[in-house]
Amino acid sequence: MTYHQPVLLSEVLEFFDPKPNQVFLDATLGHAGHSIEFLKNGATVYGLDADPSNQKIAIDRINSLNLEKKFTPLTGNFSRIFDIWNKKISQPIDGLLVDLGLSINQQSGDNRGFSFSDDSSLDMRLNPKTQSLTAEEIINTWDKNQLYEIFSKYAQEKLAKPLVFEIIKARQQKSIKNAQYLSQIVENYYQKKHYSFRHHPATKIFLALRITVNHEFDNLKKILDSSLKITKKTGKIAIISFHSGEDRIVKQFISKHRLKSKKILPTHQEVLRNPPSRSAVLRVFENTL
Ligand SMILES: C[S@@+](CC[C@H](N)C(=O)[O-])C[C@H]1O[C@@H](n2cnc3c(N)ncnc32)[C@H](O)[C@@H]1O
Repeated sequence: MTYHQPVLLSEVLEFFDPKPNQVFLDATLGHAGHSIEFLKNGATVYGLDADPSNQKIAIDRINSLNLEKKFTPLTGNFSRIFDIWNKKISQPIDGLLVDLGLSINQQSGDNRGFSFSDDSSLDMRLNPKTQSLTAEEIINTWDKNQLYEIFSKYAQEKLAKPLVFEIIKARQQKSIKNAQYLSQIVENYYQKKHYSFRHHPATKIFLALRITVNHEFDNLKKILDSSLKITKKTGKIAIISFHSGEDRIVKQFISKHRLKSKKILPTHQEVLRNPPSRSAVLRVFENTL
C-alpha cells in the first residue's frame, strides 16, 4: 500500500530530538510516518487517531518493522486528549505532535466523500461510529445562511453567496448524494462564468464541510489548551497546520500564553518531492508555563 508521506519529518525530528528515555504522544498518528522515526530513536510513543482504519494501518506498519515494543496505540479524538492522557499515560510527556488534516488515503480514496471524484459518498466523518453529522446532511438540509457562514467563515470562499445559490438550486432538483456531484455543481458555475482556477474550484467548499463535520477548529483549540497540562515543564509541542484558519488558531494560542515559538516551512525540495506539503506550516514551542 502507499503510505502517507510525513511532512517536515527532518524538521520535526530535529526539534524533538527523541531519546530512549523519553515519552511522546503523536495525536494524529495517521500512517505513523513521524512516530516510526521516534520509535527508531528508542523513544516511547503513544499514537492516537480518531480514524480506526488509519489506526490499523499504523499498527500493522509498526509491527512489520518490529517497533511495537515501545508503541501504544490509542483510539479517540484529540479533542479529548486530556482525559485520554489521564487514563492511559498520566505522567507528563516530553513531546506532543499534532499533524493536522487528512492522510493521503483519506483524501483520495476510501469512498468517504473527501475527494472531488468520489461518486459514492459525501460523508467526510473521520469516525462514522462516533459522529453523526455528515457533509451530505449539511449540503442537503442546511439553509442558505448556515451554508454561507461555513463557506465564508471557515474557508474564506469569496464566491460563497453565488455557490450557496447554485447548491440550493441543484438540491431542489435532486439530492446531492456524492462528492462528485457537489464538485460538478461548483465547476459548472465556474464554467458558466468563465472563471479560471488554479486548484479545483470546489477546494474551499470541501474544506469548509470537512471542518464543520469534524469540528476541526474546536478540536484544535481543545488540544492546544490541554497541551500545556500534559507536557513536562520544557516539554516540546509541534503543530503542523495546512490552512490559514488552523494556523491562526495556533498563532493566537502561542501569543495568548506568551510562548516563544518558531515557524518552519517545508523546503523547496520537499514541496517538489511531496506537493501536498506546500501548504504546511510547522509551529514549535516549549511548555514554559
Ligand atoms: C495528516 S495525517 C497524519 C499523518 C502522520 N503524521 C504520518 O506521517 O503518517 C492526520 C491524521 O490525523 C487524524 N486526525 C485528524 N483529526 C483528528 C482528531 N481530531 N483526533 C484524532 N485524530 C485526528 C486523521 O484521521 C489522520 O489519520
